[in-house]
Amino acid sequence: MSGLLIRIVIGIAVAFAAHAQPPADKAPTVNEKKPPTAMKQGQNFENAVALCTGCHGISGYKTAFPDVYHVPKIGGQQATYLVNALKAYKSGERSHPSMRAIAATLTEEDMKKLADFYAGAK
Ligand code: HEC
Repeated sequence: MSGLLIRIVIGIAVAFAAHAQPPADKAPTVNEKKPPTAMKQGQNFENAVALCTGCHGISGYKTAFPDVYHVPKIGGQQATYLVNALKAYKSGERSHPSMRAIAATLTEEDMKKLADFYAGAK
């Protein structure tokens, strides 16, 4: 279980590193390069899911982060659809950089678990 979280955390770190812009008035520090939430998470499936929910906010179709993107609602979608979408990010067929970095860290088994969870969430 903890392996899944670690791989997602790494994926998110890569996603952030690819996009992070230091604030104009400050030089970047080591701390600022870390993703804000990932490192504080515990090591279980619920927390791994919480990382997805941070962007995909299930209830009310909220765009929690990053607010410049349209983040599709994944809760309540068919599990097969979600797995196929994640595979498409991993393979590069879908090209969104954050989701590609995250999906690259997931095994097919992880994708199924996450998809089942979100398919059952409303
Ligand atoms: C950094 C923010 C962020 C995180 C964290 C994130 N996502 Fe995403 N996700 C997005 C964005 C933005 C899109 C839309 C990308 C696009 O336009 O292709 C997306 C798209 C998706 C899609 C396709 C949805 C559709 O309707 O086609 C799935 C499935 C998905 N994400 C699952 C996940 C899962 C599972 C996790 C956790 C392991 C996760 N995401 C974590 C931002 C994020």
